[in-house]
Amino acid sequence: MNYDHESVVIWGASGHAKVVADAVRLEGRFHLVGFLDDVDPQPRQFLGLPVFGGAEALGRLREDGVTHIVFGFGNCDARLRLSEVARSEGFSLATVIHPRAVVASDVTIGEGTVVFAGAVVNPGSTIGANVIINTRASVDHDCVIADGAHICPGTTLGGGVSVGIAAWLGIGSTVKDHVAIGASALVGAGSVVVSDIPDAVVAYGVPATTRRQRGL
Ligand SMILES: CC(C)(COP(=O)(O)OP(=O)(O)OC[C@H]1O[C@@H](n2cnc3c(N)ncnc32)[C@H](O)[C@@H]1OP(=O)(O)O)[C@@H](O)C(=O)NCCC(=O)NCCS
Repeated sequence: MNYDHESVVIWGASGHAKVVADAVRLEGRFHLVGFLDDVDPQPRQFLGLPVFGGAEALGRLREDGVTHIVFGFGNCDARLRLSEVARSEGFSLATVIHPRAVVASDVTIGEGTVVFAGAVVNPGSTIGANVIINTRASVDHDCVIADGAHICPGTTLGGGVSVGIAAWLGIGSTVKDHVAIGASALVGAGSVVVSDIPDAVVAYGVPATTRRQRGL
């Protein structure tokens, strides 16, 4: 099989991958050819397309002309680590923006980032590589979101918020303007963050407080 020059494989084949696949199809920039799944590498069909196997299938896919990878799972550290694997195998990372996301004209978005339906990213913001701006998340003006972060569904960031590398902002959380979230921090679902959160901690509650170090 020889694929065309803007073809993509989604790495991951679970619920999150379904949402990525839908965004890829609706955006229409890439030809979606199938999936990789290290958790269950058995060859099979998923959403009507082949699961080619796990990471060991990368070389074959590259030889067949597949050009791009995008991640279909939420784990921030794994996305960052496997993006290096994909690059070393000669793939580019696909940036996917759902056609019904609203992204301001001056926003820069890194490779491999996905922006889902209903998300809003306002002017002056910078979004790194391999970030997930999940369904209906709102990133206000002048935010800086570092590589690998996951802004979960319905999360609201005020203006000038910074989010560190591989940080996870849980579903429905709210972050006050100009607050900094540390690298690899995990903010619990529904939290309201009113002051800075250190690196690599689990914080939650209203207002959010640090509860423990995050085991990474
Ligand atoms: C914050 C979180 C990581 C804590 O997980 P955990 O360490 O396993 O904590 P537990 O479930 O053991 O709960 C410990 C206590 O904290 C409370 N708690 C847990 N998460 C909380 C949250 N988000 N806000 C307020 N309290 C929370 C529990 O009710 C429990 O209280 P108790 O001791 O009085 O019974 C997790 O609850 C969470 O919010 N994860 C984010 C999930 C998410 O956003 N998924 C989106 C997928 S797209």
